[in-house]
Amino acid sequence: MRTTDAVWLAPGEPQEIQSDLVNRFQQEYGRAASGTWFAPGRANLNGEHIDFHAGRCLPLALAHGTYVAAAPRTDGQLRLRTLDPSLDDGVTTVAPDAIGPGAAVEATGHWSQYVSGVLWALRELGDSQPEFQVDPDFGADLLVLSTLPIGGGLSSSAALECASILAFLALGTPFGQENPLQNLNAALTKQHRKELASACVRAEVEVVGAGTGGLDQSAALRARPGKVLSLDCRDFSVTPLDIGCILRGYRLIAVDTGEAHRLADGQFGQRRADAEAATALLGLDRLRDALPERPRKADVTHVLEEFDRLSEQLETLEGRSIAACRRRLRHALTEMVRSEKLHHLLSGDSYGVRHIASTIGDILTAGHMSMRDDAEVSFDVADMVVETALAQGAEGARLIGGGFGGSVLVLISPAAIPKLTAALERISRSIRLLDVAPSAAAHAL
Ligand code: GLA
Repeated sequence: MRTTDAVWLAPGEPQEIQSDLVNRFQQEYGRAASGTWFAPGRANLNGEHIDFHAGRCLPLALAHGTYVAAAPRTDGQLRLRTLDPSLDDGVTTVAPDAIGPGAAVEATGHWSQYVSGVLWALRELGDSQPEFQVDPDFGADLLVLSTLPIGGGLSSSAALECASILAFLALGTPFGQENPLQNLNAALTKQHRKELASACVRAEVEVVGAGTGGLDQSAALRARPGKVLSLDCRDFSVTPLDIGCILRGYRLIAVDTGEAHRLADGQFGQRRADAEAATALLGLDRLRDALPERPRKADVTHVLEEFDRLSEQLETLEGRSIAACRRRLRHALTEMVRSEKLHHLLSGDSYGVRHIASTIGDILTAGHMSMRDDAEVSFDVADMVVETALAQGAEGARLIGGGFGGSVLVLISPAAIPKLTAALERISRSIRLLDVAPSAAAHAL
C-alpha cells in the first residue's frame, strides 16, 4: 500500500519557520526584521453562515497559520511579499494614498489589500484609542509565510489580517513601543483582542469588500489552547469551552479538498443576501432574534411557518427566489439550534450523555447536510469526502468555512485514520489532511 504520510500537511516548527523567515527577510529587503508575528487558521465545529446573523459559532484555532516578519518604514509605504508560491508576484508596494476604502488599488482582490486594509483599520481604531494611535508616517516592509492552504476554508485571509495587525500594533503605536517583542502577548487584554478582531473585520468588509461576519478574526485573535471558543455574535462575547470530552479517544481532522474558494467573488454574498431578505420579511434586524435563548426544532418550524404566511402573496423577495430565501433561512435557523445545543453539551450539560462523540458527530453531519441542501454552498468533492469519512467509521463530518471550495472537518477515532487517508487519496490527489489540535491565538514570536 502506498504510504499516506504525504497527504498530511504539518504545521511546522514555529522557531524554525521564524528563523527561516527572518533570514529571507534580510535577503529580500537588505535589512533585519524587527520581529515576527503569527496568527492561526481555524476550524469550526458549527456555526457557518450565521455569524452575520448574530448566531453562535464554535471555532478553534489550528496550529497552522500565517507568519509575518516585518520592519517599520517612515515614508508611509507598505512593501509586501509572500513566500506562498501560488500568490507570490514579487514585492508589492502600496503607497500611503492607496491605503483604505475606495483607494486606487492596482488589482482588486490582490492579497495585499488584506494587509493594507488592516493598517487603515488600525489607524481608525487609534483615532478613538490613543494607545493604538498609528504614527502618521508609519509604513512597513513585510514578508509573509503561511502553513495554511490558501483558500482552504481555514481562514488563511483572517490569519494574514490578524498577524499583520499585531505587526503594525507592535511597530507603529505607543502600545507596541511600551510592550516590545513578546511583551506584547501579556500586555494584550481580552478587550484589546476583541477590538483588534473587529478592526480586522472592518478591513475585510470595507477595504477588501468581502462579507465576512467576524467568526474568522475572532478565532484567530481570541482562541485558547485546548478549547473551543463559543462565540456569541450578538455581542461577540466568548466562552472558552473544554473539548477534552471529544478528543478523548477521537481526533479532529481538517480535510483540505484542494479546491480553493474565494470569498470576494459573488456567491458567498448572494447566499447571505438571500438570508437577509428573509430576515427583513420577518421584520427583524438580526435573524438570531427570531429564536428563543435555547431554541429547539419546533421554534424553527414556527419561524418557517411565519415566513410562509408572509411570503404567500409574493412572487419574489427583493427580486430573489422565495424558495431559495426559505432554504437559506432554514439553514441559518437549524444551524443556530445546532450551535446552541453544542454550546450546552460542551458547557457541561453533557453530564449523562454516554456517547458524546457520536452525539457531536451527528451534529457535524447534520450541519453538512444543511450546508449542502439549504445553504447550497457545498460542492462535489466535499460531499464525497463527507460520505467517505462516514463510510470509514467517522463519528461525523462537515464542510466548514464559507463553502464553494475549502475543507471538511472530520471527527474520527485514530484507529480508522489509515483507511480514511487511503480512501481519500482515491478521491483526489490534491487532498491534504491537517491535524486539528486546538491551539493558541495570534501572538508575537
Ligand atoms: C467566511 C466568513 C466568515 C463566516 C464563514 C461562514 O469564513 O469570513 O465570517 O461567515 O465564511 O461561516
